[in-house]
Amino acid sequence: KPAPLTDRYGREISYLRLSVTDRCDLRCTYCMAEHMSFLPKKDLLSLEELQTVADAFIRRGVRKIRITGGEPLMRKDIMGLFEGLGDRLGNGLDELTLTTNATQLETHADALVKAGVKRVNVSLDTLDPDMFREITRRGDYEKVMRGIEAGAVAGLKIKINTVALRHQNADEIPHMVEWAHSHGYDMTLIEVMPLGITGEDRYDQYIPLFDMRDELERRWTLTPEDARDKNGGPSRYVRIAETGGRLGFITPLTNNFCAGCNRVRVTCTGRIYMCLGQEDHVDLRAALRESPDPQAALDEALDRALIAKPERHDFAINQRGQGPALDRHMSVTGG
Ligand code: GTP
Ligand code: 5AD
Ligand code: SF4
Repeated sequence: KPAPLTDRYGREISYLRLSVTDRCDLRCTYCMAEHMSFLPKKDLLSLEELQTVADAFIRRGVRKIRITGGEPLMRKDIMGLFEGLGDRLGNGLDELTLTTNATQLETHADALVKAGVKRVNVSLDTLDPDMFREITRRGDYEKVMRGIEAGAVAGLKIKINTVALRHQNADEIPHMVEWAHSHGYDMTLIEVMPLGITGEDRYDQYIPLFDMRDELERRWTLTPEDARDKNGGPSRYVRIAETGGRLGFITPLTNNFCAGCNRVRVTCTGRIYMCLGQEDHVDLRAALRESPDPQAALDEALDRALIAKPERHDFAINQRGQGPALDRHMSVTGG
């Protein structure tokens, strides 16, 4: 049986985040610049290559795959990948899921459910249509709302991801929590991370989430759930007595969660990044396209990547006007 993916710090990698495109129909101000140049199609892994990569990880013990982007549903052939990976469910894979902006969820919700997807994480930073336009620079708020609703009707469990932004949505967050919980959605608040040049000052956008948590604690009764997320995710969850829902906090800047890290990322060009906050990577595309024995080359590349997984990321936002920690945009690495 192939060796499991255990790193130098004894962490077992059971979760793959697989980015399928760097493109997105939105331009969220903390994620992208107004004008982005995207990768040419030939640089992207084909559907077959994505499936081959995923299978290599499944053989080595990955049990959960999250499809990310950019916006995964922007990729025209993407449902083929969901169908292919859906076939692995119960057969090595425990969970197949995605993170989406929901602009096209209305079209794809039923097919996702049919492929075996049970939960989706939806990125949504405001419930105010004007603010939605400001943050996403081009989004159609109503379409996103229809997408979320269609997802829920199709039977998908929805989690709302909200990046906390000082001047844009900080005041609105309690209202968003009430809204999400009243619809039966979980919600997670995220600290903005310094990834990629976006034309915005990160220092100005950033709110440490312990401030937000104090504010919510004055309003409601927050009971921490035990042992963070059971599946080793970065989110630390509380249950809110008054709303009856779950709220998570992802705090890469104020409360590092790397000790329990169970994940790696593969970009849409086939690079493995062992940590979101690192430039270090291993190229799987070369293994796939140039080796006479792609399967062995993939395994060798996975071993090489594993050795290099760092103990922790080292994000910081502590200075006005400071540039990004890394040039690479989140949309390339897939969050
Ligand atoms: P589940 O726990 O499976 O629901 O997913 P998730 O919350 O890990 O994934 P999601 O795609 O919803 O990502 C939410 C936020 O967490 C994004 O901003 C990600 O960039 C961030 N995130 C996820 N994993 C990591 C990680 O390992 N390190 C850091 N620094 N951020 C992460
Ligand atoms: N910092 C934190 N979260 C980010 N996301 C995108 N860019 C950033 C950033 N710089 C979030 C999106 C989505 C998730 C995959 O990552 O809002 O919810
Ligand atoms: Fe697109 Fe998500 Fe980035 Fe917004 S945060 S631009 S929806 S990839």
